[in-house]
Amino acid sequence: MCGIVGYLGPQNPKDIILQGLKKLEYRGYDSAGVAILDHGIFKRVRAEGKLVNLEKKLVDEKFEGHLGIGHTRWATHGVPSERNAHPHQVDGISLVHNGIIENYLEIREDLLKMGALLTSETDSELVAHLVALEIKKTKDLFLAVKSILLRLRGAFSIVVIWDQKPKEMIAFKDGPPLIVGLGPEETFIVSDVQAAIAHTSEFVYLEDREVVWIQNKEVRFFDDQGNEVKKAPVHVAWSEDQMDKMGFPHYMLKEIYEQPRAIAHAIKETFQIPADFESQFDQVQKITIVACGTSYYAALMGKYYFEKLARIPCEVDVASEFRYRNPLIKKNDLVIAISQSGETADTLSAARLGKSKGALLLSICNVKNSSLDRESHIQMYMNSGIEVGVASTKAFTCSLALLNVLALRLGLYRNQIQKPEFKEQEEALKALPSQVEAILSYDKYFLEASDAFKEFKGFLYMGRGVSYPIAMEGALKMKELAYLHAEGYPAGEMKHGPLALVDANIAVVMILPLDEHFEKSLSNLEEAKARGGKIISLSTGHQPKLKKISDRYLSLPKAHWSTNPILSVIPLQLMAYHLADSLGHDVDQPRNLAKSVTVE
Ligand code: M6R
Repeated sequence: MCGIVGYLGPQNPKDIILQGLKKLEYRGYDSAGVAILDHGIFKRVRAEGKLVNLEKKLVDEKFEGHLGIGHTRWATHGVPSERNAHPHQVDGISLVHNGIIENYLEIREDLLKMGALLTSETDSELVAHLVALEIKKTKDLFLAVKSILLRLRGAFSIVVIWDQKPKEMIAFKDGPPLIVGLGPEETFIVSDVQAAIAHTSEFVYLEDREVVWIQNKEVRFFDDQGNEVKKAPVHVAWSEDQMDKMGFPHYMLKEIYEQPRAIAHAIKETFQIPADFESQFDQVQKITIVACGTSYYAALMGKYYFEKLARIPCEVDVASEFRYRNPLIKKNDLVIAISQSGETADTLSAARLGKSKGALLLSICNVKNSSLDRESHIQMYMNSGIEVGVASTKAFTCSLALLNVLALRLGLYRNQIQKPEFKEQEEALKALPSQVEAILSYDKYFLEASDAFKEFKGFLYMGRGVSYPIAMEGALKMKELAYLHAEGYPAGEMKHGPLALVDANIAVVMILPLDEHFEKSLSNLEEAKARGGKIISLSTGHQPKLKKISDRYLSLPKAHWSTNPILSVIPLQLMAYHLADSLGHDVDQPRNLAKSVTVE
């Protein structure tokens, strides 16, 4: 969950590394640092907190050299502080690390016994010590790295440089991504292609336990046995200008407003997949969807779509639970892994487990060429464009649209729905972008509503049927952005416990579009109202009865049951955004979080 940039080439490493780190700050923002060659030694500059603090320290720094590494940190071992910031340096070795070294305690003990002087609380510094010790024996960076590889357990990607070799950079990984960018005169090592895409579009993705050895312009890859492997570069055509805020104050707001276009794109692409696509699933009798966070709520919606439209039994599991419970997966099952980043450690492991049990693995990612994307039998894409805000918005709505289209196509193919129903839903999906646009045009009402939210101590988000995953997602947005307690519940469960929480300090946010559940959800609201709860309701068009019992009523366009959830989540995203912004929170980078969770 940290961001890594390594550079070897003729340009000024400081600017290149800082530009790259800016693109990676979404991966962690507890501290940042660089080590850049300067007259034969690696000058290190580090700062606690956001990258801007490091930038300030670097303003007047000049470096005479062409090799350097940089890092932006999401703290695992050791508090966020300058002392724990990367790069770590030991005897001329500078090293940056993303991930966790699981056997760090044992390594630490050994090093202490050998008299090592530890200057941080991190597991990463220990690796620098191991390399430095080996280098004393071998006098060779590559051999030193090779000999410590087997000592490390956990999930890691690491770049290491040595002041005795000013034209050499070595990197290796087992878990989090590491990608080598190849320019004609220069080489980059980055956690995400975005960090180098301004300079090259040719990238080589490192596989687990591979080592890359860069000397001058020569780039060589090795497997964990030390055998050289030939790897072809992938051409990545992701344009850099999508990282621009385009005049919005935050990436998150920009991404919310991009949804009409993004959803239209996701729908079009999924309908356009060639007709023989469905036949790949001919043997499938059961679907299991695994994901984390917002992608897990998208997965929950998938269950409604697949079971209702395609009549395929569907289980949904939080990836971190699935991977440790010896799940019952058989040959001919379909495992779907949903992940915006395609790098979430738990989702990746759950997907691998499904695959190892003989399941067909379908991934739904936003980031092409991500680890999950590369490891799947069948790939589908959210097609929502780069998502920078840590809180996921457009990737969620695009995933829902994609799952809806996929279930529809499978339903028709398997004769579970007929052409007229398919057509009706196709039309409903095609109407979505303009309906989302219409909701966005009422943003001032959501801003106003969010202002009233400041008086509440907690939030209960409720919904039935397809509105239940939306309630969960609405609550997650409130938690991660506004740092307020919020729970998402199926409305039918309210009387089984959460009702005890309800009083005048609690807002009950009920999502009840006009569908088969409307009347029942309305009764649940009456029960909350009778106990003094404050009612915020979202429903279709004009609902006088509902308006009467609501402290605030928010209206949604009339839509199909299957597209209602995609519409209902937009006001919830906007209200959480506005509330967090007015509370002075960092909306794009909420505290303690990172965009891509590459550790368990
Ligand atoms: O990249 P992924 O979709 O696998 O990420 C999963 C979660 O970490 C992510 O959705 C997280 O919950 C977001 N912060 C939610 O806004």
